[in-house]
Order: sequence, then C-alpha cells, then structure tokens
Amino acid sequence: MKTVGIGFLGCGNIGCGVYRLLEQQRAQMEENEGISFDVRQILVRSTGKRRGADIPDSLLTTCAQDVLADPEIAIVMEFMGGEQPAASYMMRALEAGKTVVTANKMALATHWNELIRAAREHGAGLYFEASVCGAIPIIRAMCDSLQANRISSVTGIINGTTNYILSRMSSEGASYQAALSEAQRLGLAEPDPTADVEGFDAAYKLSILSSLAFHRHVPVESVYREGISGVTPEDVQFGREFGLTLKLLAVAKEENGRIQARVHPAFVPDSHPLASVGGAFNAVYVSGHACGEMMFYGRGAGDMPTASALVSDLTMAAKEKSHRLPAVFGDAEDIADDWTCVHFVRMLATDEPGVLSELAGLFARHGVSIASMVQKGERDAQGRVQIVFLTHRASECAVRAAISEMDEALGVQVSIIRVEKD
Ligand code: HSE
Repeated sequence: MKTVGIGFLGCGNIGCGVYRLLEQQRAQMEENEGISFDVRQILVRSTGKRRGADIPDSLLTTCAQDVLADPEIAIVMEFMGGEQPAASYMMRALEAGKTVVTANKMALATHWNELIRAAREHGAGLYFEASVCGAIPIIRAMCDSLQANRISSVTGIINGTTNYILSRMSSEGASYQAALSEAQRLGLAEPDPTADVEGFDAAYKLSILSSLAFHRHVPVESVYREGISGVTPEDVQFGREFGLTLKLLAVAKEENGRIQARVHPAFVPDSHPLASVGGAFNAVYVSGHACGEMMFYGRGAGDMPTASALVSDLTMAAKEKSHRLPAVFGDAEDIADDWTCVHFVRMLATDEPGVLSELAGLFARHGVSIASMVQKGERDAQGRVQIVFLTHRASECAVRAAISEMDEALGVQVSIIRVEKD
C-alpha cells in the first residue's frame, strides 16, 4: 500500500466535500488503487468554525506555510477560489516540487503560463479537471481521449447558474430578475451574482477549454464576453416562436486558421442536443475531424460533483510516475475579433411607412442578408412595434455597424442575439 500525504488549501463547501468523499471511499481506494491518502494539514481562515465534514481540529491551520513547507505533503489540493492568494500558493507548492490539484478556474486561467512553466521546471503535476464543469470529465477527454483529433469547435453550457435562470425564463416566462431571485433563494446564485451572470465564470472556463482544444493558449482577456442580465422575456419568447432556445453559450471555434473564443447569450435550434440541457446542468458539445460530434453532460457545480473530479485527479496524480502537463503555453496570436453567424435582431421601431425599407436598406448597405422577418403585436404608447429579423450568416462587425446606424438614424432600440446552428 502506498501512503500519500496531502494538504488542503481552503476548506469551504468543496474542501469539506473532498474530505467526506475521501473518508467514504477510503476502503475502495485502498483496495482498488492501492493508495491510502493521509490528509496532514488543512489551511482555513479560522479554526473555530463549524464545518460540513467531521474534520479533527488537529489538522486545521491558519498558516499557509504549514501546508506548503511540510515535506510529507506530496500533493496540495487547492479550493480557496479567487485569483489571490490561491495562485501564489499554487506557485509556491509547484516550486517546492509538490503536485497541485485545483478547482480554481480563475487562478488557473489568469496564471496559466506561469503555473504550467513552474510545474514543468520542478517536475510537479498540475491537475485541474474540477476547474471546468465540475464532475464532467471534459479536461481528461480533451487531453487524453481526443488528442488524435483536429478539434473544430467546442460549444458549451458551462455555467449552471445562468442555465438555471434562462431555463426558468423559458419555461415560466419569468423575468430575468425573478429567475435570478429564485436562483439565489435556492443557493444556485451568489448574493453578488456578477461572476456568473455577466459571463466571467464561463470566460475563465472557456480560456482553459479552448487552449486545450486548439493547442494555443487563449488568454481570458481575449475571450469576448457578454452576460445574460440584458436578456428579456420577449427575446426568449420570440426565439421560441422561431424554434430556438436561449442559452449562455461558450463557443470556441477554429475557422480559417483563426480562433474564436466567445461567451454570450445565443439561440440554438430546439433540435440541437444543447437545447435540452435544462436547469443547472452543464454540457459541452465537441466536434472533431475523426470523432465527429459528441456531447458531455452532467453536474457542473456543487460540493460532491466537484469533489468527484478533484478526488479522481488526486488518485491519478498519486499514481502517475511522470506527470503529463498541457504542452500549451505562450499566448495565441491568431484570435479573431470578428466572426460570422446567424443573428437574431429584435427592435422596437416606429410603425409607419418607409421604416421597414430603411431598416432593410441599412442591413443591405452593410452586406447583411435577411433570412426572415416578423412584426409583432400592438403599437406601444410611442407608436412603436416589435420587429424581429433573422439574418443569414453575417459578420458580427457588419451587423453591429448596421445596428449602430439604425439607432442613429431611426432611434430604434435593439437587442442582438447570435444563433449557433452547429
Ligand atoms: N458558479 C458556477 C456555475 C459553478 O454556476 O456553474 C462554479 O464554476
């Protein structure tokens, strides 16, 4: 039996989940894997707190050095969250030759190059399955199961909070605010929901996923990001009438030799497998030239789903003779700032002769071709009506330029939502 000393950085919900899972699975790990894990030190903010696991007080410390400098600790598990001090602690652990297992997408995405370099230089491992989509083994799939492919796209619902909110807006006709409040009441959204609803959480995850998919580091600052706080029930409802379901999508594509990495609300056809991913579930849809299309589906958050990925990484880290690390570092220089897709454009425009032809003319002048159009409902108090255009595939920049001119010339109010068909 091999005994492996481990230390925790942080012991909130996720850390307690890991501790409980290690205790639950101890006998099985020993029998099946031949490994006994010895938790030696746990860094916490305060030692006097009640925790969601039966952890002996003797393991708790408020001094990071107790974890980072213990020569008996071979693997450091980090679940403090946030960029700092988590990133510096992980660097110190790697520089001391300790392997790091982390769930921290923010620290990983923002310190990718330096963490991988430090791991390489010091012969340490860096494992991060839990940083993207909780229990779903998407990192392992990208690194170890799909490496024979040229990946052309990775399209994911990789934030459970926003998927819950949009699912409620779609199924109940709820407003964004009502659906968010419900998510907060259920503990699915934070009291300050910005990281989830404005797409930051998904952007960190997409930076990691797209770097692995395209073998070039896609810095998080290069990920186009737009959240869901501006989405209205009208957008959701009109989409439904066109057979489209609204999601916060994370899209990574390689087209014409350039990488697109973007997080924004997007419609998918109701027939697309991602359309049926409801509630707080996550899914990642991958296209590769040899494997074809496949979808990974499961729980992307929560203490036990995240612990599932962390403890699996821990087991792998303890068994590897030499650690495999992503070969990806150095920033990609070929990230696209424009892309083409179908656009759903909803506007509130004055209902009088000539307006429609002027709108259509502006689209035409920017090379945007219209696929269909509907005018809906009654005039509002200012004599305006809802008009929805679906374009053919068109350049994002061209659509935005057309919209900006429409707004200047006609004072229309517009929302643009991309439609991802593949
Ligand atoms: N807050 C995230 C989500 C989970 O809603 O998916 C952790 O990344």
